[in-house]
Amino acid sequence: MTKEESVPPFAVIPGSQVHAVLTGHEQRTMELVEAAYRLHGEGDTVNPPSYFLRFPDRPSARIIALPASIGGENRVDGLKWISSFPENVASGIPRASAVLVLNDHATGYPLACLESSIISAARTAASAALGAELLSRGRPRPRRIGFIGTGFIARHIHTYLAGTGWTFDEVGVHDLAAAYAGGFRSYLEGSGERGRITVHDSAEELIRSSDLVVFATVAAAPHVHEPAWFAHNPVVLNISLRDLAPEILLASTNVVDDVEHCLKADTSPHLTEQLTGSRKFIAGTLAEVMARKVVIPGDRPVVFSPFGLGVLDLAVGKFVYDEVAARGELRVVDGFFHEVDRYGRTATDSRS
Ligand SMILES: NC(=O)c1ccc[n+]([C@@H]2O[C@H](COP(=O)([O-])OP(=O)(O)OC[C@H]3O[C@@H](n4cnc5c(N)ncnc54)[C@H](O)[C@@H]3O)[C@@H](O)[C@H]2O)c1
Repeated sequence: MTKEESVPPFAVIPGSQVHAVLTGHEQRTMELVEAAYRLHGEGDTVNPPSYFLRFPDRPSARIIALPASIGGENRVDGLKWISSFPENVASGIPRASAVLVLNDHATGYPLACLESSIISAARTAASAALGAELLSRGRPRPRRIGFIGTGFIARHIHTYLAGTGWTFDEVGVHDLAAAYAGGFRSYLEGSGERGRITVHDSAEELIRSSDLVVFATVAAAPHVHEPAWFAHNPVVLNISLRDLAPEILLASTNVVDDVEHCLKADTSPHLTEQLTGSRKFIAGTLAEVMARKVVIPGDRPVVFSPFGLGVLDLAVGKFVYDEVAARGELRVVDGFFHEVDRYGRTATDSRS
């Protein structure tokens, strides 16, 4: 360790602080996500495959580790550790829970542990809003949106679209559980949404009447098989990744966040690759669309399938950390790292 480097303090950032930093800053968060995608496209990131921990006794549950490193001006390393327990929702608690650990670039020491379900939802919703923006280029801007699956992520996507300048004439809602569709409708009514809200009984009805379709279900396998439902060439945000049968993707322009990541874990693009034995159905990545290396035709449906990159969590998490630090509100855990010297000096010795 050089003279200038010492063990950095370790802070815990609870959800209330994350919420206070991110709320109302949808545009800024979308810009952070855009910059992270750009750095990823330029190769200035390390983003190994996510690791899925699964349990034989709880087959619907999983905990995913997303280690990552991002360069650029705000470089940082870290790990998102996110659980998905779908049965939680029956008890009224969210399906997903998460922490994000940020590691200091110079020393590798963990700097902070942040509550990360909000960061994860924010980066996911910001990437969806960015996808909607970029993939609508070259076609009339969608005025009719439809949500299939109306949980935590759908709510955040609506907030991010509204917070980044989208307005709608029609908002369609569909969920397998009528109570969840009703809850989402109440959220929309309370959010200031001006579009006419319709709860649809079927996915078909919703898709046929939407120009921007958001999938945010927890479906494990395709339940939408009919390309004719997409004949009006909507923009599709395939956030839950497993709802669409390969026939739909083969009739669409496909954009992903990262090809290697997305063609895994039985996502719809993965099933399409398995069916066709080829990746030719993928037009490119969102970073390539940003750089105008890929142009999206207006006369086909376009499907954005973001696998969800750990670098996005790092970019948003580092922003939250820096904001909380700048406000002088970091909740440092004194002496978290007890031995701060190779020869046994402790945090207490170094203060005396
Ligand atoms: N791609 C990414 O980066 C990313 C990031 C975060 C979450 N996600 C995914 O987003 C999805 C939604 O997450 P959430 O936290 O909102 O979950 P949630 O459990 O809060 O909500 C999911 C909703 O989907 C409904 N649903 C399930 N199957 C359906 C079907 N076939 N048709 C219609 N509705 C259906 C459920 O009733 C529930 O209301 C999950 O699949 C999650 O893995 C993706």
